[in-house]
This record gives sequence, C-alpha cells and structure tokens, in this order.
Amino acid sequence: MPESPTTDNVVAIYPGSFDPLTNGHLDLIARSSRLVGRLIVSVLNNEAKQPLFSVQERMAMLREATGDLPNIEIDSFDGLLVDYASAQGATVIVRGIRAVSDYEYELQMALMNRRLRPEIETMFLMSGEAYSFISSRLVKEVVRLGGDVRGLVPAFVESRLAERFRPAQVLNPVPR
Ligand code: PNS
Repeated sequence: MPESPTTDNVVAIYPGSFDPLTNGHLDLIARSSRLVGRLIVSVLNNEAKQPLFSVQERMAMLREATGDLPNIEIDSFDGLLVDYASAQGATVIVRGIRAVSDYEYELQMALMNRRLRPEIETMFLMSGEAYSFISSRLVKEVVRLGGDVRGLVPAFVESRLAERFRPAQVLNPVPR
C-alpha cells in the first residue's frame, strides 16, 4: 500500500510579539499545531518596541498556556526571522490573518521572507471568528483604561495585566 503523505516531520515557526498572548494567538497555536510535527512559538526579542512584558515573562505565559499541547516548544529570537527559522530546521512560518487590514502587512512580510529564503513557506490561517477583533495592543489599552478583557485572554494573563497596570488595587483590592 502506498504510504499516505505525512506532515509529521514538518517543523513550523509561529513568530510574534505576544505582548501579551491572547486567546486569538492560542486558537492559532492549537489549530496550526495539528497541521505540523513540531511547532515552535517564538517571541521576537526587540526591546526597541518597549514591550509591557519582558521576553522571559512572555515566554513563561506561553508555556503556561500551551502546557497541554504535545508538539509545542516556546523560544525567542532576534535578527531575521527566516535565518532563525532555517537554523531551527523549519520550513514553514505560521501567521494569522484577522481582517483585510492585516493582509497588506502580512503580504509584504511573506514576500520579503520568500525573497530572502524561497525554501521557507508562509502559511496563513484565518483567525477564528470569535477572535478576529482581538489584538494585544487593544487588550493592553482596554486594561490600562479600566475595561474588562475577560474571555479575550487566558485568566492568568488577565491577572498579570491587572498587576502591571493597577498594582495597588491588586495588592489591596478593598477600597477604604
Ligand atoms: O506579532 P507581530 O508583532 O505582528 O510579529 C511580527 C514579526 C515578529 C513576525 C516580525 O516583526 C518579524 O518577523 N521580525 C523579525 C525581523 C525580520 O525578519 N524582519 C523582516 C521580515 S520581512
């Protein structure tokens, strides 16, 4: 019997800032991890962006959220994504598209990456419809301004955000 094609030995990278990780990211991680043998979720190390959480904190949150998935690794990278992917033996880059507004930026990146290393393919997954409006930037803005992000990020990420933006209230939640 001819062997059926397998993607078991495909290594993919899901790169991003993950500042912080959202339920949209987690949906994409779970779905793409079923399509490949190994998925490396990798945090861009770019302090110039002045992130809310350090790379180590973001990696720890990703680990905590993906602990039940067997074929996921968490890592960080700097420099060119395609060089990092190649050094990891990855042939696929995973990215999510939420809306038409994501398309132009993603297209530019995918084409530049293909020009740099044609052997690495970018694979786009459409965001789950329940997550198509979520972004790390908006989540941070809503929490900073006192809004509720329940259901948009894992519960423990919600707590970390509250600690970061409202440390006094978290330590002393009962108003005097
Ligand atoms: O979550 P983000 O911020 O949209 O992720 C962007 C990311 C990390 C995928 C992108 O900035 C990136 O790949 N940076 C690494 C530097 C690089 O390779 N630049 C050329 C890409 S065309």
